[in-house]
Amino acid sequence: MYLSQLDIFQVRNLEAVRAACHPQANIIYGANGSGKTSFLESIYMLGRGRSFRHRDLRVVVNNDADELVVSARLTHEQTGASHQLGIRRTAKGQFEARVDGRALQSAVQLVSELPLQLIDAHSFMLLEGGPLQRRQFLDWGVFHVEHGYTDLWRRFQKTLKQRNQLLRHGRIDQDLLRTWTAELIPLCEQITHYRRAYLNGLAGQLERAVGAFDGLGRVSFEYYCGWDESRTLAEIYSHDQVRDIATRSTNHGAHRADIKIKVDGQPAADHLSRGQIKLLVYALKLAQADHYRERSGESCLFLLDDLPAELDYQHRGQVISYLNDLGCQYFITGVDKQDFRALVETVPHAMFHMEHGTASAG
Ligand SMILES: Nc1ncnc2c1ncn2[C@@H]1O[C@H](COP(=O)(O)OP(=O)(O)O)[C@@H](O)[C@H]1O
Ligand SMILES: [Mg+2]
Repeated sequence: MYLSQLDIFQVRNLEAVRAACHPQANIIYGANGSGKTSFLESIYMLGRGRSFRHRDLRVVVNNDADELVVSARLTHEQTGASHQLGIRRTAKGQFEARVDGRALQSAVQLVSELPLQLIDAHSFMLLEGGPLQRRQFLDWGVFHVEHGYTDLWRRFQKTLKQRNQLLRHGRIDQDLLRTWTAELIPLCEQITHYRRAYLNGLAGQLERAVGAFDGLGRVSFEYYCGWDESRTLAEIYSHDQVRDIATRSTNHGAHRADIKIKVDGQPAADHLSRGQIKLLVYALKLAQADHYRERSGESCLFLLDDLPAELDYQHRGQVISYLNDLGCQYFITGVDKQDFRALVETVPHAMFHMEHGTASAG
């Protein structure tokens, strides 16, 4: 899928930007502070309903405006169907998302309309940061290939929250604790089943993506499901009840899962240089896009913030040719137009010059 006409109103310093996007390569260049990341942030909000830079969308609305609006035409390659997507964040803090003028119930529905991947200066955290990042990576993948997963995931979160709320009470109703625990166990097991199947399915694509870059070793995954699998979850919850009550939280379950990513048998985060870690993050996200395309027949969209600052010339070329092979639409930002010379010479594209919040073709 790809975006064509994109309209951005009052996102940070972008007061009104209209861009005719290319279905393949889109290059956004301009000085620091000109609005390049805000351009990507606008697309991200359209696909996720939130920003990658700030939790509070109030900060993202232009200082002199009451609301922001982003809208775009989205076309599916498979069916040729096209839809108008739009989001609006009002002065009162309301968030609205629409598809062809029809209001969506929640931002989650946006996510399935517009699968997108972002890589920016913080992306190395996927390997160096805590397990939450890796669970989010994993859940992105499962969510986009398994239709029932969102609902399962929501039920799991709700049940976990209820169990944790109960554990925070001074006096605990044992019957209620048994009820929430009994509900939680199959949800943890189903989530684990989907995540593990997804990771197994991703191995081939990962190998292919890693193989496209020089300088990475043999990459493998190990999934930790969030508890010791030599025992049943029922045993663990019953054994750990005292601890759960003492810590007022559920210490085991799918919310504690992690992926151990290894290179040549060693933990990647300890073993690789920062440059190699960044490259591995690209490989992981490209592998997800490849897998998604294989399952759905659709490509996903990539936002690559300040690519020249993130990767050297050679690896930049490798990433771009991978994206081209996958048929992905991508938006790349950078300060210097010259950094994109090789790309411009070989790939059909649109180019935008950002200056003080305005975008001009060129
Ligand atoms: N809410 C806002 N209203 C107006 N301008 C903002 C707002 N938030 C940030 N800015 C400004 O927007 C400009 C563009 O930022 P950014 O998109 O990060 O630029 P770039 O990625 O090109 O370096 C910055 O100069 C920043 O100070
Ligand atoms: Mg920037």
